[in-house]
Amino acid sequence: MIITVQNQKGGVGKSTISVHIAFELAKQGRTLLIDTDPQGSSRDWAAIRESEPPFPVIGLDRPTIHRDISKFTADYDHIVIDGPPRVSELARSGIICADLVLVPVQPSPYDVWAAEETVKLLQEASVYKENLKGVFVVNRKIVNTSIGREVNQALAEYGIPVLKTHVCQRVSFADSASSGSVVQEVDPTGKATNEIRLLVKEILNYA
Ligand SMILES: Nc1ncnc2c1ncn2[C@@H]1O[C@H](COP(=O)(O)OP(=O)(O)OP(=O)(O)O)[C@@H](O)[C@H]1O
Ligand SMILES: [Mg+2]
Repeated sequence: MIITVQNQKGGVGKSTISVHIAFELAKQGRTLLIDTDPQGSSRDWAAIRESEPPFPVIGLDRPTIHRDISKFTADYDHIVIDGPPRVSELARSGIICADLVLVPVQPSPYDVWAAEETVKLLQEASVYKENLKGVFVVNRKIVNTSIGREVNQALAEYGIPVLKTHVCQRVSFADSASSGSVVQEVDPTGKATNEIRLLVKEILNYA
């Protein structure tokens, strides 16, 4: 399954979610993480790790990802694409090769409104790829709060499903990133780890 994590808004958690789901998917099958952001956050994450990650992380940051990916599809069960911020040919190229586009959104009306451009990219790509699926995942939800009515309403208007699993705002996500690890490694029985497991389970239902 090819999962592209994309939102044109910067800092919504594309790279965080990409490395965490790749780590989880790697337990179930051969997994590749493709960093398509010239900033190279996923590559930096892999580079500062003490040990090799349980999946390769490669960089493809030219808008030919949809062509280049065919070199890898036979060798991997799962490919995760960490998308770049901003609408660009690069973002389009990453979306067009996906089976599922995962759009992280922070639960604030501003972030939800800003997702419109990403939704448009998805709609454009659907013209070429009929079975392309897109889903929102709420990231950085504040623990013990519910998603505001305004946010739920605005998300519903896009006509794209919202995953049941929400990823909460937790220091362990930022802490683990600074050592090139993931929450599953630093706190295997923690709540963040559980959220990532549930998230991946839900994603695999779209396969
Ligand atoms: N659920 C979370 N809880 C706490 N911190 C988070 C969470 N998700 C992301 N962050 C933090 O938010 C910051 C931005 O996250 P990240 O780099 O994953 O976003 P991005 O969408 O990939 O950004 P860019 O658009 O620049 O590529 C990072 O410092 C990351 O550690
Ligand atoms: Mg990023």
